[in-house]
Amino acid sequence: MAIHSPKERLWWNEPLTKVEVTWIAIAFLWGLFMFFTMIYWHFAGEQNLSNESYRIRPEVFSERTEAMAEQYTVREEAGVPVVRPPAGGDVYMLGRLWEWWPILELEKDKQYRLHLSSLDWQHGFSLQPVNINLQIHPGYEMVLTITPDEVGEFSVVCNEFCGIGHHQMVGRINVVEPQ
Ligand code: CUA
Repeated sequence: MAIHSPKERLWWNEPLTKVEVTWIAIAFLWGLFMFFTMIYWHFAGEQNLSNESYRIRPEVFSERTEAMAEQYTVREEAGVPVVRPPAGGDVYMLGRLWEWWPILELEKDKQYRLHLSSLDWQHGFSLQPVNINLQIHPGYEMVLTITPDEVGEFSVVCNEFCGIGHHQMVGRINVVEPQ
């Protein structure tokens, strides 16, 4: 029992029992299996993206996003600008209490550098229905090199609880045919 000191203080000199060895082996092999599954899933699952992250002050990220919106807004939907930046360039989407802003309109089969960051709390960037999930923190921007390969409307939902408006925190990416 643990309330008495062990008779043999140097427990690591005690021989292992068969059961112990078996469980250590199972746990070790399972750990190895999971490790290689992560690498395999990066390629086969097409969900774990290779992303980069950089430090950025929220004010700077906000300025860059607004500058993009000012220059490339094509229309508004329910007061939210729909922004169509040129293909091949940098696009920004910011998370804040409680929205993903602005709506992006991207062209199919064109490459973009998508920058994501939060202006306040931790938010989740969950792109549906393709099920791409990222944690977005204030003070850091996540940069993804993406090439949308399907035309359609893709919803962004926040999947990190961020307060009373969490369930309303949504955004959108439209993928359209190139003009
Ligand atoms: Cu943002 Cu939940």
